[in-house]
Amino acid sequence: MASSRNPRIKQIIETVAVIVLLGLVGLKGAESGSTFSYEAINCRKHSSSLTDFGGVGDGKTSNTIAFRKAIEHLSQFGAQGGSQLIVSPGKWLTGSFNLTSNFTLFLHKDAVILASQDEKDYPIVPPLPSYGRGRELPGPRYGAFIYGTNLTDIVITGNNGTIDGQGAIWWEKFRNNQTNYTRPHLIEIMYSNQVQISNLTLLNSQFWVVHPVYSSNVLVLGLTILAPTDSANTDGIDPDSCTNVRIEDCFVVSGDDCIAIKSGWDQYGIAFGMPTKHVIIRRFTCISPDSAVIALGSEMSGGIEDVRIEDIYALNSESGVRIKSSPGRGGYVKDIFVRRFTMNTMKYVFWMTGAYGSHPDDGYDPKAVPVIKGINYNDMVAQNVTMAANLAGIDNDPFAGICISNVTIGLSAKPKKLQWNCTDIAGTTSEVTPPPCSLLPDNGKSTCPFPTNKLPIEDVKLQTCSC
Ligand SMILES: *[C@@H]1O[C@H](CO)[C@@H](O)[C@H](O)[C@H]1NC(C)=O
Ligand SMILES: *[C@@H]1O[C@H](CO)[C@@H](O)[C@H](O)[C@H]1NC(C)=O
Ligand SMILES: *[C@@H]1O[C@H](CO)[C@@H](O)[C@H](O)[C@H]1NC(C)=O
Ligand SMILES: *[C@@H]1O[C@H](CO)[C@@H](O)[C@H](O)[C@H]1NC(C)=O
Ligand SMILES: *[C@@H]1O[C@H](CO)[C@@H](O)[C@H](O)[C@H]1NC(C)=O
Ligand SMILES: *[C@@H]1O[C@H](CO)[C@@H](O)[C@H](O)[C@H]1NC(C)=O
Ligand SMILES: *[C@@H]1O[C@H](CO)[C@@H](O)[C@H](O)[C@H]1NC(C)=O
Ligand SMILES: *[C@@H]1O[C@H](CO)[C@@H](O)[C@H](O)[C@H]1NC(C)=O
Ligand SMILES: *[C@@H]1O[C@H](CO)[C@@H](O)[C@H](O)[C@H]1NC(C)=O
Ligand SMILES: *[C@@H]1O[C@H](CO)[C@@H](O)[C@H](O)[C@H]1NC(C)=O
Repeated sequence: MASSRNPRIKQIIETVAVIVLLGLVGLKGAESGSTFSYEAINCRKHSSSLTDFGGVGDGKTSNTIAFRKAIEHLSQFGAQGGSQLIVSPGKWLTGSFNLTSNFTLFLHKDAVILASQDEKDYPIVPPLPSYGRGRELPGPRYGAFIYGTNLTDIVITGNNGTIDGQGAIWWEKFRNNQTNYTRPHLIEIMYSNQVQISNLTLLNSQFWVVHPVYSSNVLVLGLTILAPTDSANTDGIDPDSCTNVRIEDCFVVSGDDCIAIKSGWDQYGIAFGMPTKHVIIRRFTCISPDSAVIALGSEMSGGIEDVRIEDIYALNSESGVRIKSSPGRGGYVKDIFVRRFTMNTMKYVFWMTGAYGSHPDDGYDPKAVPVIKGINYNDMVAQNVTMAANLAGIDNDPFAGICISNVTIGLSAKPKKLQWNCTDIAGTTSEVTPPPCSLLPDNGKSTCPFPTNKLPIEDVKLQTCSC
């Protein structure tokens, strides 16, 4: 080529080429107006829109077949660079559907996926082996609205698009004993590795909202989860027998615990033996007038360990980090670390319950008592509190190694007379007001441990993808 003999001309040609290319890119973006970027563990090679499969976003037409056909079609690209399904602006009514591996479900900011209120749109699936039965009723349960099992690398994300469980009818039926099986979760991911659920608004779930179970490497980022505070058991985020979980920048208003960390139920959970461990929760905001900001249990029979909690803000909630267990549960809760937790308007700051009850059936072993130890709290401030601490372990099985440091609790206009009610617990405190009970003696000026290492899940970097 001529340019290769003349460096000056070569340079001009290259410059022009770059300008033309930039112009084309700019035009493409402007013309289509439909390129979006999002962050994910992996980007995908193949892309389809729900409308390619006959989807109609009018809020009335059922898209159950469109969703199921779309994902079945896209599942063939699992080993060829993966795929993404784009849900455009509109209201997309659908029954339950299943995800596939190496797959992203992307919701435009003005996309709303509406969950069918017809029970027939939910398959009946077996109970979780670690629960032995449906959580609410014996026997099988409804499959989750968005369900995935035995998968690798799944992303559910959007630029704050919405998934609405339309749960009111389920809450009503549940209260009137009219559900035939345990209600469906909004999102349940089972036996999976590499899971990301991010930048979405999740409304009015039928039951628990986000339920990763028997899974590992789970990222839950930037979710807004809303349900009426009187809705039945709308727990926000429930990691259950999971390893390596990172929950960041989420906001939950709910009718039950904002987060509940679990690991199976009594004899079934003990036999299954799969703990939840290596969990980080940070920059989390919760409103839960009748439940906990973060509950550990009550189903904890596979064990819960190494949970790190920091930078939490709670408003109008019943309790902060609550431990719930019972004889029969077995298992353990250990190495729990909490720091920088701010609360306003609380019934209890600290609550531990060793007599939670609630058993799957009469087959539990009352001698299977849980081991609760190494529970650490640092740097907490609370205002408008009714009772500082209600801490009850189990007779002959004290909850031990409780450490509380640098905590200032301001009381409400009508506080309880007894501020610290302690039975069957052991530990120490430092710089805590109002003054703790005698079972938690003052340890001078000392702080409680918080790990200095990072969990592997904290180092997972996201890529910028487009669609
Ligand atoms: C979520 O959205 C925020 C801003 O809206 C953005 O900064 C962040 O990268 C997004 N995160 C993910 C995981 O997409
Ligand atoms: C997912 O993608 C990975 C990496 O390309 C590949 O090894 C794996 O086989 C894919 N999984 C499925 C189920 O297609
Ligand atoms: C989803 O997968 C589960 C487990 O394989 C199955 O029982 C259920 O019927 C599937 N749901 C749909 C809608 O296909
Ligand atoms: C899913 O994985 C679990 C645990 O490895 C296994 O027991 C089960 O059979 C698998 N299910 C399917 C449908 O492959
Ligand atoms: C997402 O939408 C919800 C509900 O409209 C809103 O409360 C929240 O602030 C939004 N989040 C972001 C990051 O825009
Ligand atoms: C539902 O059943 C429970 C236990 O069987 C019973 O206590 C309750 O009164 C029933 N509620 C209604 C509305 O029938
Ligand atoms: C639920 O059970 C009742 C009887 O108790 C029955 O009439 C109804 O059809 C069942 N609903 C479904 C969706 O199976
Ligand atoms: C005590 O906790 C408060 C609130 O988190 C914090 O501002 C303060 O720095 C802490 N004090 C010490 C000595 O760490
Ligand atoms: C204090 O808590 C009570 C409920 O215990 C609530 O009614 C009141 O509004 C709260 N006050 C402030 C200033 O938040
Ligand atoms: C203190 O806790 C014990 C054990 O849970 C309970 O029996 C007792 O009633 C409580 N006392 C007060 C005053 O709340």
